[in-house]
Amino acid sequence: MNLMSNAVLPKKNFSLKNNSQSLSNSTYEIFRKLIYENCGIYFQDNKKYLLESRLLKRLNFLGLNSFENYFDYLKYNINKEQEKKYLYEVITINETFFFRNQPQLNALVSKIIPDIIASKKNFGNPKLKIWSAASSSGEEAYSVAMTIKDLVKPKYPNLLVEIIGTDISQAVIDTAKSGIYREYSIRNTPTYYLKKFFTVNNNNFEIKQDIKDMVSFKILNLFDDKSMRAMTNFDIVFCANVLIYFDSNSKIKVISNIYNSLNKGGCLFIGYAETLHAVSKAFSIVSFPKTIGYKKE
Ligand SMILES: C[S@@+](CC[C@H](N)C(=O)[O-])C[C@H]1O[C@@H](n2cnc3c(N)ncnc32)[C@H](O)[C@@H]1O
Repeated sequence: MNLMSNAVLPKKNFSLKNNSQSLSNSTYEIFRKLIYENCGIYFQDNKKYLLESRLLKRLNFLGLNSFENYFDYLKYNINKEQEKKYLYEVITINETFFFRNQPQLNALVSKIIPDIIASKKNFGNPKLKIWSAASSSGEEAYSVAMTIKDLVKPKYPNLLVEIIGTDISQAVIDTAKSGIYREYSIRNTPTYYLKKFFTVNNNNFEIKQDIKDMVSFKILNLFDDKSMRAMTNFDIVFCANVLIYFDSNSKIKVISNIYNSLNKGGCLFIGYAETLHAVSKAFSIVSFPKTIGYKKE
């Protein structure tokens, strides 16, 4: 679903498409402060043109004739909270695909999940709580569900599994909930999983119901302490390929909240290109073939 087309705001005739207005340095400063304070994303000095082109989409849609007017809109308009959501949609990068990080999935199956189950064995049917934080359109969360269904559940039939995916962007959460994907998303998916867990229809790849039932999705801003405090008792958290958009203070804040969301013995995975060096010393590093995890002791 394209939320832009569902906006309650009237579309005016005025368009900036051919307008010579550009984002001044001082207006760039106030926008990046507003964005940073609301969601932790930090636009570097050399990203002004990128932000300008993203914001223009909203100016055009709203029929506003300057970036300054758009800033006032975000600050004072009665629809400002709704507009912030649209702002997040235009500034976030939602690139993801199924089975993006196979070594992490291998580590789950070979070591992490068996160890967690063993540590819970005295408490009735074991339950696993897994969180794909910054899930984008859900490919990571569903990849985890497919892997568990295929390789873990046969060994532990009584295992209860709850997987939740969260993201700041409503549009990607809507796609995740629909479970319907284009070919681009499945480009790295093993054929075996494609056949087992997808239904193909007119070049659309839809997740089968048994996998959909294992996963739920909701909007969550990782930078919002109150929402983060509500995320508790997780055994495994994936927070991959989002820290790169944060500055070091945002990383420290987000990772410290995720640490609090984890159970003792729980594990955090981040992206291939990311590190917790200089972000947190609270975790111990656990090595697996071709990947590492961050364990809460
Ligand atoms: C590049 S995608 C990563 C998706 C997936 N984790 C992966 O590794 O394939 C980054 C996601 O982070 C989300 N994001 C950015 N800032 C966020 C925030 N403050 N809170 C929650 N999600 C955020 C974006 O909307 C985007 O969907």
